[in-house]
Amino acid sequence: MLIQLIQLKKTFCENLSQVKTLEDLRILKINFLGRRGKLTLFLREISTFPKGERPSMGRQANFLKQKIEAEIKVKVREFEKKEIETKLKKEWIDVTLPAPKQSLGYLHPITKVARIIETIFSQMGFEKVCGPEIETEYYNFDALNIPESHPARDMWDTFWLKRDANIRMHTNDTNKLLLRTHTSPMQIRYMETHQPPFRIIVPGKCFRHEATDASHEHTFYQVEGLMVGKNVTLVNLKAVLEGFVKSFFGKDLKIRWRPGYFPFVEPGFELDVTCQVCLGKGCSVCKKTGWVEVIPCGMVHPNVFKAAGFSKDKYQGFAFGMGLDRMAMMKYKINDIRLFHSGDLRFLKQF
Ligand code: FA5
Repeated sequence: MLIQLIQLKKTFCENLSQVKTLEDLRILKINFLGRRGKLTLFLREISTFPKGERPSMGRQANFLKQKIEAEIKVKVREFEKKEIETKLKKEWIDVTLPAPKQSLGYLHPITKVARIIETIFSQMGFEKVCGPEIETEYYNFDALNIPESHPARDMWDTFWLKRDANIRMHTNDTNKLLLRTHTSPMQIRYMETHQPPFRIIVPGKCFRHEATDASHEHTFYQVEGLMVGKNVTLVNLKAVLEGFVKSFFGKDLKIRWRPGYFPFVEPGFELDVTCQVCLGKGCSVCKKTGWVEVIPCGMVHPNVFKAAGFSKDKYQGFAFGMGLDRMAMMKYKINDIRLFHSGDLRFLKQF
């Protein structure tokens, strides 16, 4: 029996010297100490040995077991050390190197332009206010003197909303709801709660059920302006908007005033600028005209003052509603409005 045990030890030592990988070692361990391992079977057989030999055989076999376990442990450590050393050689890091630069995000061109516009108007004494994107039919149309038959109410232009009894709205009235088609409703909301004189701008998102093209989106931005007092005239309107255009573009740009119709102003105008994409030559943005309409405006209609609760002829003022996206297109010479929300980083990284 002792010879058998000595033979086992010898075989183990020989096998161990040939082990090259952790996997070889795992197999060797199973061969000797696994459930059907050589030494395990030997240990089981001891009960069949003559009584006098059993204690000594048991001691020696267990001693061999401990030795095998210890040697395997040592070998495992050797392998692990080697593995770490080769990894360290391959993945060496110079901790003294400066950290890689964090890439910073960019302001969206629309945000940039909104901030520029807000700064210019705040320098002219305009206060910034915000209004709800979900509006009622009353504020979006009726109060602004937009009659029932006006094409702007058409289902093709307006996103009408269904009232859901489970959703609590900010407004209690039972008026029809819609996604605001312009920022002008804030004219009424502001005048209902403030007395002139005041000058405000209202930047914000607007929504129209549009077939999109190079200069039309279904979701776009406007900046509304409203200045009301006892002596606010057309001269003020012209001075403010021409001063704004000069500041915004940083140069004397060719501009054009022409009459425009909006039910909530009288008289109404359109302020156009030379198309900055084609510099007036004609392109898809300006629809080959060389001009781009950027600031519709006019003197506040008496019916609008009436809807806001002001007494007749007490105040006068002007309002405008410029398209922010188109201002951004003109400033940065962008030839397609759809680029703004395309999520294309190659486009966004340029600003
Ligand atoms: C209005 O929305 C009026 N509320 C503006 C106004 C306010 C006039 C106060 C008078 C007094 P209009 O529909 O023209 O007007 O839109 C104003 C501007 O928003 C346009 O000049 C254009 O720059 C921009 N705009 C309108 N529709 C779109 C669209 N689908 N995509 C991108 N920009 C648009």
